[in-house]
Amino acid sequence: MLEKHKPSNIAIFASGGGSNARKIMEHFKDSSVGQVTLVVSNRRNAGVLAIAEEHGIPTQIIDRQGFYETEEILGVLKEHQIDWVALAGFLWLIPAYLVRAYPQRMLNIHPALLPKFGGKGMYGHHVHEAVKAAGVAETGMTIHFVNEHYDDGDILFQASCPVSPEDSAEEIARNVLALEHRYFPETIEKVILRG
Ligand code: GAR
Repeated sequence: MLEKHKPSNIAIFASGGGSNARKIMEHFKDSSVGQVTLVVSNRRNAGVLAIAEEHGIPTQIIDRQGFYETEEILGVLKEHQIDWVALAGFLWLIPAYLVRAYPQRMLNIHPALLPKFGGKGMYGHHVHEAVKAAGVAETGMTIHFVNEHYDDGDILFQASCPVSPEDSAEEIARNVLALEHRYFPETIEKVILRG
């Protein structure tokens, strides 16, 4: 008889509202490919924590000193037997020890078409305001592997949407977020299946 493959354990790191995190949790709810088994946040009041609770997923709060000056989070990830990490609106740079622990196993989503509109300080609404100010005809989202630099690892998937001169930064953000919700969970699944 064929042995049933155990779903891979996914940790989501998020700092904010967690709409992408919610989509990922919902996507993998009854999946045989993966399951979200931990949510890590650097903000005690992050919306993502309530979403995790709704789904019965354990959470872990981190602080800057612990994250950058110790490797405690590795112990937590090990305890939860985490195979994959998805950064869904996580705004801290990932330290080298953590990149090394999850080589090509940590994915980030960025709300623009990298390498444009990326790097330190380029997150959330700052990105969409910069896109508007630049007057570009399209923007989009990028899913990439994480390395030690902001928004710099190998690109796995991009999707784009048009930008009209009359679009506000909020409208641009809405269009990009819709792409993120549509493609992030399925890209994570494809990468897990690829192994
Ligand atoms: C998403 O748009 C994500 O691409 C962005 O934060 C938002 C989080 O939204 N990430 C970055 O800007 C990283 N540089 P959410 O909390 O509703 O998922």
